[in-house]
Amino acid sequence: MPSTAPKTPEHVAIIMDGNGRWATQKGWPRLVGHRKGAERVKAIVRAAPDLGVRWLTIYAFSTENWKRSTEEVIGLMGLFARYIQREAEDMSREGVRMRFIGDRSRLDPKLQDLMHWIEDRTRNNTHVNLTVAINYGGRNELARAARKLARQAAEAGLDPDTIDEAALSNALDTQDIPDPDLVIRTSGETRVSNFLLWQAAYAEYEFTPVLWPDFTPEVFSEILSRYGARDRRFGGVGT
Ligand code: IPE
Ligand code: IPE
Ligand code: MG
Repeated sequence: MPSTAPKTPEHVAIIMDGNGRWATQKGWPRLVGHRKGAERVKAIVRAAPDLGVRWLTIYAFSTENWKRSTEEVIGLMGLFARYIQREAEDMSREGVRMRFIGDRSRLDPKLQDLMHWIEDRTRNNTHVNLTVAINYGGRNELARAARKLARQAAEAGLDPDTIDEAALSNALDTQDIPDPDLVIRTSGETRVSNFLLWQAAYAEYEFTPVLWPDFTPEVFSEILSRYGARDRRFGGVGT
């Protein structure tokens, strides 16, 4: 029997795209768009639990984004550090648990320290889970997981025959995070750009032309209602 209850995704992952174009259209430097984009993150994290979404994963910097100008890369890294410092108090009070995924080893040690600090500080929060992908690439994550398992096989007696899908999942950065139900990409681009390649194997996708700095809780809510109308079959024959 078809269910009449509104379906809400438990976990929404967002490819926040279009900050640069938003700023350029207004004749402003790209970094202004990134600053405005960071404000949007806060609004969306706040709105998520009321919309029934307890897990949010956002793509902030890809393993490919190092190709951008030094000015933009440094500006973005500064923005991440400031976001953590500025929002720590509110996130603690509002029950936001913050985590990071991605390869941290290439990041400034001071930023790495801040990332560990906020993860620790918000560890017991349960209202909403915010995961930020920084220096994240799905291929890089899978290669690191493969390396980790190979090392365990070579040095710690791991039997290669026990490496199944669950074992690989557990070797990823997302080991304690559920798979996303819905992936949203803003700015009209319809590509995945190396985001959550393994985890989004059965996710639904929604693409919107809205640029990330214009992405309001209302736009978010409207996209979530479209998700509610979908029939997820997971290879079966559906309801
Ligand atoms: C997304 O916005 C944020 C990051 C990738 C860091 P962009 O900076 O990609 O914005 P556009 O795509 O150039 O407009
Ligand atoms: C994807 O956006 C990465 C992030 C949102 C952080 P990009 O703007 O870097 O992706 P491409 O280059 O258009 O594929
Ligand atoms: Mg872009």
